[in-house]
Formats: sequence, structure tokens, C-alpha cells
Amino acid sequence: MKVLGIESSCDECAAAVVEDGKHVLSSVVASQVSFHEKYRGVVPELASRMHVEWIQPVVSEALDKAGLGPSGLDGVAVTSRPGLSGSLLVGVQYAKGFAWAAGKPWVGVDHILAHLYAPQLERDLGYPFLGLLVSGGHTIICRVLGFDSIEVMGTTIDDAVGEAFDKVATFYGIGYPGGAAIDKLAKDGDPTAFRFPSPKMEKGDHAYDVSYSGLKTAAINQLERFRRPGHQGKAQADIAASFQRAAIDILVSRLLRAVEDTGIRVVVAGGGVAANSYLRARLAEEKGLEAIFPPLALCGDNGAMVAGLGCRMLERGDRSPLSLAPSSRVPHFKRRGAA
Ligand code: KG4
Ligand code: ZN
Repeated sequence: MKVLGIESSCDECAAAVVEDGKHVLSSVVASQVSFHEKYRGVVPELASRMHVEWIQPVVSEALDKAGLGPSGLDGVAVTSRPGLSGSLLVGVQYAKGFAWAAGKPWVGVDHILAHLYAPQLERDLGYPFLGLLVSGGHTIICRVLGFDSIEVMGTTIDDAVGEAFDKVATFYGIGYPGGAAIDKLAKDGDPTAFRFPSPKMEKGDHAYDVSYSGLKTAAINQLERFRRPGHQGKAQADIAASFQRAAIDILVSRLLRAVEDTGIRVVVAGGGVAANSYLRARLAEEKGLEAIFPPLALCGDNGAMVAGLGCRMLERGDRSPLSLAPSSRVPHFKRRGAA
């Protein structure tokens, strides 16, 4: 079964063709980063306008690279939630029109489940495993029971981890998007130069939750030291390294607790922050834990993960009605602590 996947939930306009939920025949990702850079964040109206302009050429390129026309497809999948309303709307309406005109079935898929499906495009991975979904919009530690079934164990009570990287980087003028810029700069810094607080929320339902607003404020409050004459270059790298260590250690401590409590020792990371080199090194040194990081092209937003998950849903007989409306909100996944 060959499925076209379309992703337009935020600022990447992406399309891919995947065969049998596994083999990526083509994948095209057009990033809008340079257009949002001067605003230091994604401007929703700008994002949707660019999707309107880009979606047709991006889909055409994905089909060309796969060597297929619409008639060679067996179905269409599109991210229908969660995300920016206007951006989602462009992809969903395009997918409906495309599927209707080609006479193919189509299905709306969840962006979070699609990220957690991404490693299946590389290898066969049995369920259950633990999911660590970390991006500019999401911070989720969950038990993944199947391609469309997760139990959220922990999430952020305020900022997403990528959002914290982006805000601290913006504050210090380190670069945009902040995560990759901090990661790069941190390589020259001392991660112990600044001591940042770690949130204490270890009780009851919050055992696996994280919080970033305190750390973000603490990092921003180091501005005075950062401005000391003669220290700027080094202080900038030190802040980047110390902040990165603190931000990732928060995640890792919750994740290790989830591993301990569930006995599940396979962890799949996804989302833009899964590209972080300190997170990768930190999990690699944990004994008895298999940390799986999909290749960078599959960590960030892409159409292949949408096509892959969509393929599984279409195979099962799922069909979305033309009346399906995109939803910007994160759905209410079942939430539970350790069994
Ligand atoms: O998954 P993604 O491409 O888009 C969504 O937010 O859905 O993730 C983007 C986020 C941004 O916050 C960016 O700063 C962060 O991922 N990011 C990183 C790194 N590369 C990207 N954060 C930490 N370290 C990185 N190397
Ligand atoms: Zn994403």
C-alpha cells in the first residue's frame, strides 16, 4: 500500500510517499525557519500563507521523487491535529481535495502519534516502549502500546522543553531556532559554570511531569554576569552549556523514573529536541536502557511519519469523512502512572 503523507501543522510544509508503512519512497520538507527568524518565533498567519503557496509544489515533488502520479497511490494521510489552526487547515483541505479528485481514501492522523511512529520507518520495533516526545510544542513521556495507543505518564506543566531553549536563546541573542544554536554553543562551554534550579514535583500524579518556567527565568536572570566586560564570549558558551545540562537533566530524571517504574527499557525519542547532542550522550551512557533516536530527518516534522502511521490506519479500514475539521488542541490521551 502506497500512501501520500502531508504535514503542515506548524512551520514545515512536508509531503512523503511511504510504502506498506515502512519504506520511504520520497520525503520532501520545506522549512519556513528563515521566514520566521526575524520575529524570533513562528508567526501563525505567515505560516499558513506560506503553506498555501508551498503545498502544491511540495506534494508534486514528493510524487515525482517516488515516481508516482495520484493514481499510483492507495491513500492519503494528513496531520489533522494538534497544531496551528490555519496551518493545519491548509494541509487538511488540500488532502481532502486531492483524495476526492483522485478517488482515494484518506485519513486524518495525530501529529504526536506520528512522531512516535517515526522509528518504525527504520526498523521493526515491538510494543510497548516508552516515548519521549520533545519539541517546540510538546514535552511528553508516555507508554506507547501500539501505533494508535499511548498512555501519557508525564508532560510539562508550563513551557515545552524546545520552547525554553528557544526563549533563552532569544534572550541572549544566541540564534534561532534556539535549540540547535544552544547545542552548538554549549560544546565550548562549561556545563557546571552556572547552577540552575531543578523543579521539585515528585509527588502523586506529577511523578513524571516537568516544568521549565523556573529554569528559564533563572537562566535569563544571569544576564548581569553575562554582561561582565571581557567575559561575554565565554559566559555565553557557559550559560548555553549549563542551561542545556539543566534542561535535559530534568527530562532524563523523569524518564529514568518511568523506566524504573514500568520495567520498559526501550525508549524512543522524537521531536526536534531529540536532535540534542547532550540528550543523546546522556541516554547512551545509561546501562540497561536502549535509547532509540530516529535519524534527524525523521525527528523533526516530516511527511513520512504521517504517511507511515496513515498507512497502518488505512490498512485497518479507518476512513475520515470530508466533514473532518482540524483541531489545534492536544487530544486527551489516557493518562496514567506506572502500572
Ligand atoms: O519537532 P520540531 O521540529 O517542531 C515542533 O516544535 O513541532 O521541534 C522544534 C524544536 C525547537 O524548539 C528547536 O529549538 C528544538 O526543537 N531543537 C533543539 C535542537 N534542534 C532543534 N533543541 C535542543 N537541541 C537541539 N539540537
Ligand atoms: Zn512535531
